[in-house]
Amino acid sequence: MKRFLPYLKYLRGHRTYLVFALVCGAISGLVFGRGLPFAMYTIFPRIFTDGPRTLPTPEVLGYALLIPLIFFIRALGAFLNNYFMSRCGIGVLEAIRVELYRKLQHLPLSYFGKNRTGDLISRLTSDTQVVQQTITSSASDLVIQPLTLVGAISFLAWIALAHEGVLMFLGSLAIVPVCVLPVRYVGKKLLKRAAENQRLLGDISDLANQNLMAAREVRAFGLEDKEVDVFQLTTRRLFQVQMKVVKYSQVLSPSIEVIASLGIAFSVFYAYRVGISLAIFLSILTALFACYEPVKKLGALHGQFTRGAASLTRIEEVLYEPITITDPVQPAAVPSRLRGDLGFAQVDFAYQPGELVLRGITATIPAGTVCALVGPSGAGKTTFANLVPRFYEASGGRVTVDGHDVRSLRLADLRRNIAVVSQDPVLFNDTIYQNLLLGRTGATREEVVAAAVDAHADDFIRTLPHGYDTLVGERGSLLSGGQKQRVALARAFLRNAPILILDEATSALDSQSE
Ligand SMILES: Nc1ncnc2c1ncn2[C@@H]1O[C@H](COP(=O)(O)OP(=O)(O)OP(=O)(O)O)[C@@H](O)[C@H]1O
Ligand SMILES: [Mg+2]
Repeated sequence: MKRFLPYLKYLRGHRTYLVFALVCGAISGLVFGRGLPFAMYTIFPRIFTDGPRTLPTPEVLGYALLIPLIFFIRALGAFLNNYFMSRCGIGVLEAIRVELYRKLQHLPLSYFGKNRTGDLISRLTSDTQVVQQTITSSASDLVIQPLTLVGAISFLAWIALAHEGVLMFLGSLAIVPVCVLPVRYVGKKLLKRAAENQRLLGDISDLANQNLMAAREVRAFGLEDKEVDVFQLTTRRLFQVQMKVVKYSQVLSPSIEVIASLGIAFSVFYAYRVGISLAIFLSILTALFACYEPVKKLGALHGQFTRGAASLTRIEEVLYEPITITDPVQPAAVPSRLRGDLGFAQVDFAYQPGELVLRGITATIPAGTVCALVGPSGAGKTTFANLVPRFYEASGGRVTVDGHDVRSLRLADLRRNIAVVSQDPVLFNDTIYQNLLLGRTGATREEVVAAAVDAHADDFIRTLPHGYDTLVGERGSLLSGGQKQRVALARAFLRNAPILILDEATSALDSQSE
């Protein structure tokens, strides 16, 4: 329960609904817990008198209708409470989901090297879903049930003071804390299983993600059966864990019911011993019934909270991950367009601590010049280029643009001045025009076309059935490798930045275009 408290801040915008929902829930709970036993207590002795029945029929009917009236108020209050509490809960969840997504936009690239994409997707979808279920189901029970309990207990206290049978009342209540014992034990077991459950869902999502990205390789190397086997192994594990979750969460309610029935047996026994009237006994039974329902529900809720907490932990692992590459506290004041003088001074870099990929690199690349890095595969050319836009952070030395350390510039200022065509460019599943426009969102149609002409992309784009409005497919898969590369080049040209980084940007081009 505590785990969810920090997120209450997201409720701020929903305050009115929340208050309304709470009031409705309170009415619903109290009317049922306190009102129903009290109605029993006052009505029954009037209707079922010893001797001849003298009450006029309409009056009896009026009394009898009190019962459906109480249930109606309870139902209406519960509905309004559930509806508006859920509204708040789902609203909070939306905020958390967006927060998580925003975080994923800002985490450094090294984070995605260490974490699996599929698992991250699973956290964004499946784990947020579990937390949402927790919020919505608790929304309906968290107000009504405790207040029903309060209402019922207050009635019991009142009747215990007004009549003989105080002992019976205390005895029946002693059952409530006993009910909590299995809840605590089962809750611990559940938390472990729930965490494992979500981890396995992450694994499955990741397996599927990798498999779908490599659809061609799977067929080329005949990996179909092997892939299915690996998948089945994980789903089998998930099956086992899920069955344990089901076992632990389903054992809760019945065990509480059994314990609760003991309370009733106890009260029958004492009612007889103390010699209280049937009307009082019935009203007490009603109050006890109203008591046990919340205890049972709150027990089930505990399980739901446990599962929600496990998922929340996985979400928070991402939310609280420190963003290591950020804007400096006091960014250097630079003109919006930099000149583009690049400097590397004694730069070291390591992807893994201690394993230097670049060692003591010193270089100057003056603005307006072309510089080519040549070296064997794995020499560190891409790594070198990645340090300029601060995709990664140098572990030693300084990378400078126009004499400013890149770490002293605001990320937006730095990256606005750099256009990158990576070794494996990615296009978004949109039209060619929209993909080009990413280079500079404010560009005119003429500028977009001019960039495409420069990149030798205009010719092939015009031969497509929808020209610039052709959809490129997921990651640009409907285009050929060379076409994709030309679109990526045009996109970079459109940016018209003083620094242009081409990482083997022409590897898939025909020799003429190159
Ligand atoms: N994300 C990463 N995590 C860990 N090691 C990496 C990562 N990316 C590259 N490396 C390692 O760093 C070294 C330099 O890689 P880099 O990609 O810079 O080479 P490259 O010169 O661009 O090669 P190529 O010509 O094949 O593109 C390689 O040994 C590679 O294994
Ligand atoms: Mg490379």
